Amino acid sequence: MTGPATATGQEARNLPAPWALLAEVTHACPLHCPYCSNPLELVRKSAELSAGDWARVFAEAADLGVVQSHISGGEPLLRPDLPEIVASAHRAGVYTQLVTSGLGLTADRLGGLAEAGLNSVQLSVQDARRPGSDLIAGTASYTAKEHAAEVIRASGLPFGLNVVLHRHNLDHLPEIIELGARWGAGRIELANTQFYGWALRNRAALLPTRDQLDRAKATVAAYDAGGGPELVWVMPDYYEGLPKPCMGGWGMRSITVGPDGTALPCPAAYAIADLAPPNVRDRPLSWIWTESAAFNAYRGTAWMTGPCGGCPRRETDFGGCRCQAYALTGDAARTDPACSLSPDHHLVRDPVTEAVQAPAPEPVFVYRYPS
Ligand code: SF4
Ligand code: FES
Repeated sequence: MTGPATATGQEARNLPAPWALLAEVTHACPLHCPYCSNPLELVRKSAELSAGDWARVFAEAADLGVVQSHISGGEPLLRPDLPEIVASAHRAGVYTQLVTSGLGLTADRLGGLAEAGLNSVQLSVQDARRPGSDLIAGTASYTAKEHAAEVIRASGLPFGLNVVLHRHNLDHLPEIIELGARWGAGRIELANTQFYGWALRNRAALLPTRDQLDRAKATVAAYDAGGGPELVWVMPDYYEGLPKPCMGGWGMRSITVGPDGTALPCPAAYAIADLAPPNVRDRPLSWIWTESAAFNAYRGTAWMTGPCGGCPRRETDFGGCRCQAYALTGDAARTDPACSLSPDHHLVRDPVTEAVQAPAPEPVFVYRYPS
C-alpha cells in the first residue's frame, strides 16, 4: 500500500481557494439509508463540535475564500442549536443550504432558520412511491417528507430535491420527476449511487442493470423542463469506463468538516486508514488547506502512479476517485478502478456483469445504524 505523499510547499502556496464547505454538524439521523455517505464508524453526539466551534470554522472558511456551505449530517435538524450555526455562517458571508431528510422540519423551525440567514434547502426523498421510499429509509418517513416539501415551498426559499438512484427506484424515474414538479422543487439532483462506505456494503442489492441506466438516461435526455424543475444527473461511474473527476480534484475546491472537527478533502475520505486527517480543534483551516499532509496527499498529478501518470486525461479527471481506489484496492494512490485503463478495472466490471446476469435481488439491505 502506498502512503500519502506531501506536495512541495511551493505547490501548496499556488493553491486555488476552496469555494465550498460541507459542514456535517451531526451524524445522528432518524433514517437508515443503505447508501448513506456517512462513515461506517459514526461520530457520537458527545464528540460533536459546539456552535461556537462552527462559528470559528465558518469565519476561517470565509477568510480562505469559501462562498457556500452545505449544512448537512446525518440530520442537521437534530441539532437544537442549528439556527445559531446557520447564523454564524451567514455572519461570515457564506451562502448556506440545509441538506435534510425533512423529518422534524416544521414551518416554525424553517422560519427560525430563514431568520438566521438560511439561503436554500435540499430535501431528500428515497423514491416517488411511498413503500419504496420508506423501505430504503428503513423507517416510515414519506409522509413527513411530503409535509416538509409543503413547508419549504411555502417559505419561498430555493428548493432542491435529492434522490439517490439504484436498482430499486431507477425504473420510477418519470414518477420521481413528476413528484419533484408536484412538490415545487426548482431542481432535482438525480444522484446515481456512489459505491463506497455503506453503499459498497450494499452493492449487490443496489447495483442497477445497464438497461435500467440506459432507460433512465433516455428519460433525462428527453426531458423538457419548460417551467418545471431543472434536472442534474450525477454520473454512474461503474458503467462508463471513465472515472468521475471526484470533488473537482482532491483538495482543489472543497473542504468537509465532520461532526467532531475532522477535516477532509471529501466526505468519504474518513475510510482511508493511512490519511491521518487534521482536526479544526487543533489547527486553523488555512493550515489544514495549504499545509496538512492529508489535503496535499493526492493534490495535482505528482502522486499519480500506473496509467494515470502519462494519461492525457489526468488534468481532466484527476485520476478519478481516491476513496473508491482505496475501498476497492486498499491503495488510494492507484488509478480509480472505474477507469477502463486501470489494471483493477475488473473490480468494477465484474460486479456490473453479475448485476446484469442475476435476477433482480431481493431488497435486503444492511441499514445504516451506529455500530
Ligand atoms: Fe483518468 Fe487515470 Fe484513467 Fe487516464 S488512466 S482516464 S487519468 S483515471
Ligand atoms: Fe473521496 Fe471521491 S469520494 S475522492
